[in-house]
Amino acid sequence: MLKRYLGGKKDLIEDIINVVQDCVKPGSTVGDFFSGSTVVSQALKSHGYRVVSNDVNYFSTMFAKAYVQNCTLPKVELQKLISKDLSEKYLKLGKIKLSELKGEAGFSFLKDDSNFLQFSEFVSLLCFLEEVDDYIIADFARTDIYDHYCEEGKYSSFKSNRGSEGNRRFFTPSNAKKIDLILSYIRYWYIHKILDENTYFILVSHLIRACEKVSNTQGTYHDFPRDKYDSRALNSLKFEIFEFDLVLNENLNHVVGESVDSLVFSKDSPSLDLLYLDPPYNFRQYTSYYFFPNILARYCEIEDLDTYFSNVSYVRGQNMDDNFDSQFCKKKIFINSLEEMIVNSKPNYVVLSYFNGKNHWNDFNSDCNGQGISELERFFNSNIFEKYSLKIIPIQRLNYQSYGGFKAKNINEYLFVAKLNKGGDDALA
Ligand SMILES: C[S@@+](CC[C@H](N)C(=O)[O-])C[C@H]1O[C@@H](n2cnc3c(N)ncnc32)[C@H](O)[C@@H]1O
Repeated sequence: MLKRYLGGKKDLIEDIINVVQDCVKPGSTVGDFFSGSTVVSQALKSHGYRVVSNDVNYFSTMFAKAYVQNCTLPKVELQKLISKDLSEKYLKLGKIKLSELKGEAGFSFLKDDSNFLQFSEFVSLLCFLEEVDDYIIADFARTDIYDHYCEEGKYSSFKSNRGSEGNRRFFTPSNAKKIDLILSYIRYWYIHKILDENTYFILVSHLIRACEKVSNTQGTYHDFPRDKYDSRALNSLKFEIFEFDLVLNENLNHVVGESVDSLVFSKDSPSLDLLYLDPPYNFRQYTSYYFFPNILARYCEIEDLDTYFSNVSYVRGQNMDDNFDSQFCKKKIFINSLEEMIVNSKPNYVVLSYFNGKNHWNDFNSDCNGQGISELERFFNSNIFEKYSLKIIPIQRLNYQSYGGFKAKNINEYLFVAKLNKGGDDALA
């Protein structure tokens, strides 16, 4: 899962789960229609809820399929993927690495010997990929990430609208080369159907997180420091092993949408006891800010990679066919879109996260004026909700951008909770 996601609710999980638990019992079906990093979907799953998750960002779908919908360990037979000699070498390394994780939070499943054995093959595969330095499968050797997203790459030059010129530097050359090697291997296994679907989702999800840790960005992929490498970017790419206790929770038949607009998804969503909503509140389009994890998530499915990468543009190097204009990023239609989504999906309860910072209603150049809260309060007091059911819960938290010299500060986050009006004259049609 991405740890640095704009508007991510990692630090608010306890508050969100408490509010959900006050409304509906475990076992109930809860929608997370702006699932982003999937941290909320994962927490809902771990608290025993059946989750219906969707986000327009493709990497989010991949995380949700790997860690929420899937309830099994990855299945890897190392000898089918790499040579016998290499698999013997890496199996030893994998077991040592895994023994270190035994007893850590999130890894209690390793107490079971058969789980330990099965998972050690996956961890050994990650050890192999971390060290890989050559394209064994020559036909699948590609250099797209090196070419387009590191300074030395032959197609990495950009010219901004304001006239500045340079070369993209999202990764150091050695990390960009490593990402290409890893992608080439995964793509070969994917095309030859050597990995089952869940294992493929899990593997790519691990790669997305590993790349995040060494990306030369200040949080999003919209841009990069033009004249330096962030110190994190200078580390070598390493996989962080996901805590699989959560994944192995009881399978409640979780549902994951196919990265569609949630306004569309809401029309055919399974019926929901509660809908958790965490939409964007300003003009920033997440598909632009996180285009790179989306490339990684989609890479193996792109049939013509040459054409795809010949069409990347802007300073950041995004193929704009992947872009999506969210209605929630437009002030004028935000409230109507919210209403449409709720009316379509007809949950019993709605819980909405709201960030009272600079947004559609609060001036971008000055402190927040509270107009956003009034707009939402008016909406939640409309007749699609039960009268007097609205609760507005303020939450204090630290801003995640307490990074690189920025000082963390307290910001007001709110949870709006209301019950749908399903009876009487004014009820939801
Ligand atoms: C504030 S973030 C959600 C953060 C998430 N709750 C978390 O904790 O990581 C808003 C999310 O809405 C998604 N999004 C925006 N408009 C959308 C739409 N119309 N349909 C589906 N997802 C959308 C974005 O891709 C982004 O991931």
